[in-house]
Amino acid sequence: MDMNMFRKLIVVYLVLIGLLLLISNVSASENSCIDCHKTLSPFIEVQKQFNQIRIQHLEKSVTCSLECHEDRVQQLATANYLQWSDSTHALNGVTCDVCHGGNPAQPAKEKAHASIKKTTDTESPVYYTNVPETCGKCHSKELDNFENSKHFKKLEDLKLAPTCTTCHAPHTFEVLNSVEFRNFCGNCHSVYKKVAPYDVPLNAEYLLGKVNKLKFNIDTANQDIFWAEKEGTDVTQANKYVNEALDKMNKLAPMWHEFNMTHFEAEVDSANALALKAQKLVTPSPTPTQTAASQTPGFVGISGIVSLLSVLLIIRKKQGHK
Ligand code: HEC
Ligand code: HEC
Ligand code: HEC
Ligand code: HEC
Ligand code: HEC
Repeated sequence: MDMNMFRKLIVVYLVLIGLLLLISNVSASENSCIDCHKTLSPFIEVQKQFNQIRIQHLEKSVTCSLECHEDRVQQLATANYLQWSDSTHALNGVTCDVCHGGNPAQPAKEKAHASIKKTTDTESPVYYTNVPETCGKCHSKELDNFENSKHFKKLEDLKLAPTCTTCHAPHTFEVLNSVEFRNFCGNCHSVYKKVAPYDVPLNAEYLLGKVNKLKFNIDTANQDIFWAEKEGTDVTQANKYVNEALDKMNKLAPMWHEFNMTHFEAEVDSANALALKAQKLVTPSPTPTQTAASQTPGFVGISGIVSLLSVLLIIRKKQGHK
């Protein structure tokens, strides 16, 4: 190997090392909240002692002392880290301080916590009536819709009403699936809890089903368009319909937060109609796409003709015997 080549290799090597160092520096957390809360463990020695004290207290029916309370907060601080670390928020760098305040540049607990208010403080950004505003800084579409809802009115009147974290549990912050609707909405909307309308959980499940069907119809329309275009069909209008349907679908998740089921259903239905119109335009006539359904008459038709023929054959044979 000549000297020049060798020098070049050295340079490349150094650049690579430099890049590696840079990357590892970036990925190392510079956020004291995360660094420290990650290391909190409910199983450290002090913790075990607190737990022991609590068990003894419980045995003697002594009400919980200050130590027990701190123990509880420490456990929450750990559990919340664990839940958060698996969430979409962790992936997107939405760290503790974004919602709780505090100073993530300070490594010492007292200084880092200095400006953090207790959850029960009405001034805290995570106090339940302040939660919509805190989340709305990033989720403005959801907040806009939510502010138009009866839920929000009731929340402002300090009546029993859900805030963002009633439905998106801290700190996993997941969206609900259809089974969870029954539990979450049913917490208030049931004959027992007496918050009308009572059919909310079932209705919400039904609407979620409709949204899934819409996703399916849009996918199918896109596939049909793909094949039609390959065969030289003009797909401009079909594409327009599908894009309109997609536009409407993307607005549906934020639109939930208006909690106006009639309006929501009308939007899903109109998006569905657009997707079906697109499908019709690009599938060869006379049969529209509704794949499974439209194939069945074909099968029935053929077997009908076969059985008709065999009946005729039998009749002819019988006549022949006479
Ligand atoms: C050096 C460790 C350390 C750092 C840094 C730290 N915390 Fe904590 N945090 C704790 C411990 C330990 C607890 C449990 C209660 C206690 O001891 O105060 C806690 C409790 C909390 C609580 C619950 C408070 C309550 O009373 O309900 C919140 C919220 C919190 N931390 C958020 C943060 C945020 C946000 C940051 C960064 C700005 C941060 N922490 C930085 C160690 C730390
Ligand atoms: C997206 C916003 C958000 C993020 C990020 C977040 N929290 Fe919270 N946190 C909240 C909300 C809202 C509450 C109040 C929950 C409630 O009312 O039940 C809360 C409550 C808490 C509590 C008190 C629990 C209680 O019941 O008193 C602790 C401790 C806590 N968070 C720690 C953390 C830690 C540690 C992190 C980072 C690993 C973190 N949080 C990240 C929004 C957030
Ligand atoms: C600093 C900005 C920020 C704040 C504040 C914030 N979020 Fe998020 N949130 C995000 C980002 C970024 C995502 C991931 C991308 C997306 O879905 O928009 C996300 C995703 C979500 C999701 C979807 C999770 C999933 O698995 O699909 C929910 C639900 C959510 N956030 C609820 C909340 C709630 C409730 C609050 C307030 C307690 C909140 N967020 C505060 C930035 C934020
Ligand atoms: C009464 C329950 C409820 C409340 C309160 C609520 N949400 Fe939602 N949220 C939902 C439902 C339902 C969906 C639709 C997705 C699903 O569950 O299938 C959703 C979806 C989301 C998503 C995901 C959107 C996407 O594009 O996938 C975010 C982000 C979100 N909500 C944030 C918020 C914020 C911020 C607040 C408070 C201003 C809030 N939510 C209040 C029930 C609720
Ligand atoms: C913490 C309690 C609570 C939870 C949880 C809750 N709601 Fe509500 N909801 C209310 C209250 C209170 C009202 C207002 C009732 C009234 O005054 O008519 C309401 C009203 C409604 C209405 C009627 C709005 C109107 O304009 O008439 C719908 C629809 C609704 N909720 C849907 C939902 C859905 C869907 C969920 C679950 C994803 C849910 N709610 C969860 C408390 C709750």
